[in-house]
Amino acid sequence: MGAIWPSSPALAEEMVRSADIATTRCIVELGPGTGVFTKKIAAMLPEGTTFAAIERDVTLAQQVAGMFPTVRVIAGCATEISRHLREASLPTPDTILSGLPWAVFPDALQSRILEEIHATLNPGGTFATFAYYGPHRLKSGRRFSDNLKSVFSSVEKSPIILNNFPPAFIYRCKR
Ligand SMILES: C[S@@+](CC[C@H](N)C(=O)[O-])C[C@H]1O[C@@H](n2cnc3c(N)ncnc32)[C@H](O)[C@@H]1O
Repeated sequence: MGAIWPSSPALAEEMVRSADIATTRCIVELGPGTGVFTKKIAAMLPEGTTFAAIERDVTLAQQVAGMFPTVRVIAGCATEISRHLREASLPTPDTILSGLPWAVFPDALQSRILEEIHATLNPGGTFATFAYYGPHRLKSGRRFSDNLKSVFSSVEKSPIILNNFPPAFIYRCKR
């Protein structure tokens, strides 16, 4: 799945908090995997907010859909968020949260997905994703940070979340 270990509930909670979902009309999660973030988002979701998740692995997508019947789970790719939402008659999102394994993506795919996220978000919308503390200083981690800064008008980093293996932090980006 591209992760060292499943994300902790503490990281999931900070992800949802950092994404300011209180006023969001539609939130999209990319790469829900086994549903660690999905569970937190579903629990903290404001009433009336649409929640969709896009997962490339069909088996995991079916599993998450079975676990969270209120979530609109789409078996598809993060390179085509707009198309997937349009085909499912879902609104454009104010918030996108990602559990995607950025470090294993080649540069071109990273850039393509980040451009797609930016193009899909409503103006003023928020994109939140996490990185492991430590590896973020390596070449691939710096490349990801540079890619974020080249696509989004504002990129903030959260304090380190120690209650995760490995410790991680969140990038909060604004369109
Ligand atoms: C590391 S898991 C994330 C699980 C969970 N959110 C967490 O943090 O523990 C990454 C997930 O992203 C999915 N994924 C990878 N590339 C994708 C893509 N291009 N589009 C959608 N999902 C993708 C993988 O199938 C996998 O389920």
